[in-house]
Amino acid sequence: MSTYKQIEETTAFLKSKGFTNPDVGIVLGTGLGAMVEVLNVEQEIAYDEIPHFPVATVEFHKGKLLIGTIRQKRVIMMQGRFHFYEGYSMQQIVFPIRVLKMLGIKELLISNAAGGLNLDFQKGDLMLIDDHINLLPDNPLRGANIDALGERFPDMSAPYTRSLNAQLKASANKLGITLREGVYVSVMGPNLETRAEYRWLRSMGADAVGMSTVPEVIAANHMSLPVAAISVLTDECDPDNLVKVDIADIIAVAGKAEKVLVKLLVAYLQ
Ligand code: HPA
Repeated sequence: MSTYKQIEETTAFLKSKGFTNPDVGIVLGTGLGAMVEVLNVEQEIAYDEIPHFPVATVEFHKGKLLIGTIRQKRVIMMQGRFHFYEGYSMQQIVFPIRVLKMLGIKELLISNAAGGLNLDFQKGDLMLIDDHINLLPDNPLRGANIDALGERFPDMSAPYTRSLNAQLKASANKLGITLREGVYVSVMGPNLETRAEYRWLRSMGADAVGMSTVPEVIAANHMSLPVAAISVLTDECDPDNLVKVDIADIIAVAGKAEKVLVKLLVAYLQ
């Protein structure tokens, strides 16, 4: 079955389960699941009950899709995302994003946990992604183009929608939240980087490094779907003073910073 046919089937299935007329799609990153607590949930469904969704790996079993309202907006949330390092193909990673677009979302908001390369930024800061560098070894658009979704050579001159970023900055300003801004570089992982790699990533112009987001942003751009993304900086990647990070610490920092992220997104969604 063609990917497009699968997208259509999954879209029809989700519509029949009440995933109708959404305004916004939100992808929640690692350790950033608390946003669901502000969602007035109407329906939720586990990923493994959704036809054609990627089959869960052992380490990833509690992913689910939710729809509900936040104030006046109808929002679909992906609680849990698919990473390349888990073994999924790029096509599998972006499949849910393509379905969200077919369901009718008008914009996509993405969150992730990332390491801070810019030493002016601190652990726990939020960073609005202004641009990215893709170091993942594959691309979700590789292979036959799905013309019904978008063109063969999508433009990437402004991959993060300027009007969305401007609104997010205005919301942060209003709330007195410090919102950094910078370039995100995506790497495959799952290991964190060496000191030499951090030096190299900084020298190429990146402010934050992580293992996600870029495939989804490429798929969104392909479909002309407005998109914005915010990184929660969970560790400071200073090559000359590098401390050993453990994942529990990364998740703990993400847990603290996500309260601020939730506030920001709720204000933005007004
Ligand atoms: N590198 C890559 N991914 C990450 C990091 C990092 O330092 N921190 C959180 N996600």
